Formats: sequence, structure tokens, C-alpha cells
Amino acid sequence: MCGLVPLARRRGGSSRVVAQSKAMQAVLKRAARFAGSDAPVAVLGETGTGKEVVARVLHESSARARAPFVAVNVAALPAELLESELFGHGKGAFTGAATARQGLFEAAHKGTLFLDEIAEMPLPFQAKLLRALQDGEVRRVGESTSFAVDVRVTCATHRDLAARVRDGSFREDLYYRLKVLTLEVPPLRARQDDILPLARELLAEERARARRFTPAAERRLLAHAWPGNVRELKNVVKHGAALAESIDVRDEDLPEDLARAPQSAAPRAPADAATLRSLAEVEREHLLRVLDACGGAQSEAARVLGLSRTTLWRKLRVIEAAGAPPLSPLARSSAR
Ligand SMILES: Nc1ncnc2c1ncn2[C@@H]1O[C@H](COP(=O)(O)OP(=O)(O)OP(=O)(O)O)[C@@H](O)[C@H]1O
Ligand SMILES: [Mg+2]
Repeated sequence: MCGLVPLARRRGGSSRVVAQSKAMQAVLKRAARFAGSDAPVAVLGETGTGKEVVARVLHESSARARAPFVAVNVAALPAELLESELFGHGKGAFTGAATARQGLFEAAHKGTLFLDEIAEMPLPFQAKLLRALQDGEVRRVGESTSFAVDVRVTCATHRDLAARVRDGSFREDLYYRLKVLTLEVPPLRARQDDILPLARELLAEERARARRFTPAAERRLLAHAWPGNVRELKNVVKHGAALAESIDVRDEDLPEDLARAPQSAAPRAPADAATLRSLAEVEREHLLRVLDACGGAQSEAARVLGLSRTTLWRKLRVIEAAGAPPLSPLARSSAR
């Protein structure tokens, strides 16, 4: 499967889906297999991994592609608005309902309705959604007749939906109804092969001018753990593009709090066991080198090393206690 899947351009979103890693290709392959069915699909994964992107790919590769993909963030709607947003309302259904209005189920007719942040759906509304899914019919608020809608429902959450069922905040019957088919989008740290292609694609989308990452910047991107996944990467790329002074986005153009990348590996000479040093020795030397490079500033050195200030302080105390060779005067003066 190709690593880049074209996708209809949408407001604020990427036009292409990067999938160079085996893990992401497996997800898209599975989505393609689900495209032929109308069964509900639950897209699961950490925040920012690309769940909505995957839901759109599923829609685009299904026979429903010509009809709308309607996405609604369930968590963003107050409980009392959810019913009229999804099912619509009749004229005069409530104060302010001067005209009848179609709901998002109707808007998605023949297409796909994507219920984002499904775990946040208020319990009383869950029963109404379940009924609509079971009957394939919706009834506008304030009206007495129901009508059929042809909608494929997909949903997403970064929460543990099974745990929600256990703690009673999510209906078990709805849970089983929604997760007939599931797609798990892996975190970015589990798909290293996607990091640079994604970063380059996102940089190209910045479009201000053609830009590229320097090898040091790329090493730093690869070294980061990406707890915020692709969304975090997108913000880092924006930061880099904004600060770059030339075609090159350099290491120093990336946000300060992104972990420092290891230095590029020097060509290795064949090792002789007798001359190899212990890990403690290598650590000690590296700590001192970084501390010197930071002019003795422990907080800066701790940041570069990816350690807490306290951990660095403890390590320095151990080094000092071990005696020789002594810390550099600068490091010593700031080690307290
Ligand atoms: N594989 C990908 N290729 C290109 N862009 C991607 C990819 N995955 C995610 N993105 C981009 O990253 C951002 C986050 O993706 P998305 O909104 O789909 O994540 P999410 O899992 O739904 O996040 P959340 O849990 O916060 O709702 C979006 O701007 C999206 O366009
Ligand atoms: Mg989302």
C-alpha cells in the first residue's frame, strides 16, 4: 500500500494521510476492509493520533464517499442541545425554534455520521441514540413521526470505553452496538517510520515557502516520545516554520521543551573490551560535559539531559562523593 493516501482537503486539516509505518498501513488496510460494510465502527487511540483522519479514510473508501461525512464533537455540545442537533426539531418545538430544522443524522443521509468523543455522551441521550441505531429511524424534537435515515455511524474516543461501561457512565448495550468493528490507531511513538514523513508533509502544508529540516532537527524529532501524537507534531512543525530564518528549519527553531536529540553518531572504531568504560563512567563524563557546556547552570543542563533538576543534583552529589577527578569549578559552584 502506498504511504500517502489522498483525501479530500478540508478546513484546517491535512489533505494527505501519511502512512509509511507498517502499523499505520495495517490500520488503513483494515479500514478498507470495513468500507464494504454498513456496520458501526469505533475508532480508538490516544489523543491526537489521527482517529478522525482514519474515520474519513474509511468514509472516502466506502460507497458512501459521494455523500457527506458529517463530524460532530459530542463533548462540545450541551446535553440539552444534543438531541435537536442530531435529530433536528420541528417548528415551535421549543422557545426559539421559529422554523423546523434538520438534524445531523438527516444531513448525513446516504453518508457517514462521525460521533467524536463518544465517551462524553450524556447518559440520557445514549438511550435515544441506541433507539435510533436499532430502528434506523430518527424523530425530530417536537414531532410525533419518525422517518428512516440511511447513515453509517462511526465514532471515536481516546478514553477507555470499557472502563466507562464498568463505572456506569456508558450504556453497555450502546457500547456493543457501536463497537461492532474497531480500528485502533497506534500512538506515534509506536510508528517511528511515520515521524519524518509526517513532519515533512506538515511542513509542506505550512506553505509560506519551501522548507526542509536539518539533519539535527530531524534527529531531535525522532528522539521525542510525542505524548500528544500527530497533533503535537503539527504544533512543533508550526513552531519550527515560524522561527526558521532560511529554507532550513534547524534544531534551535524547534520548541525548547522538546527533548534534545542525541549527537549524531561518530564513525565507530572496533571496540576492545579491555578499554571499554562502564556506563557509570560514560554517564559521569557526559553529565560534566553538558554541565560545562551550559556554563554550570543546572536547570539548563537538566533540561538538555532530560532529567529533573533534583535527579541531576543527586547524580552530581554521587560524582562529588566518589572524589576524583573533581567537578569543574563551574559545575561545583552551581551543584548546590
Ligand atoms: N496520518 C496522518 N497523516 C496526515 N495528517 C495527520 C495524520 N494523522 C493525523 N493527522 C493530523 O493531525 C491532527 C490530529 O488528527 P485527528 O484530529 O484525526 O486526531 P484525533 O485522534 O481525532 O485527536 P483527538 O483525540 O484529540 O480528537 C489533524 O490536524 C490531522 O490532520
Ligand atoms: Mg478527534
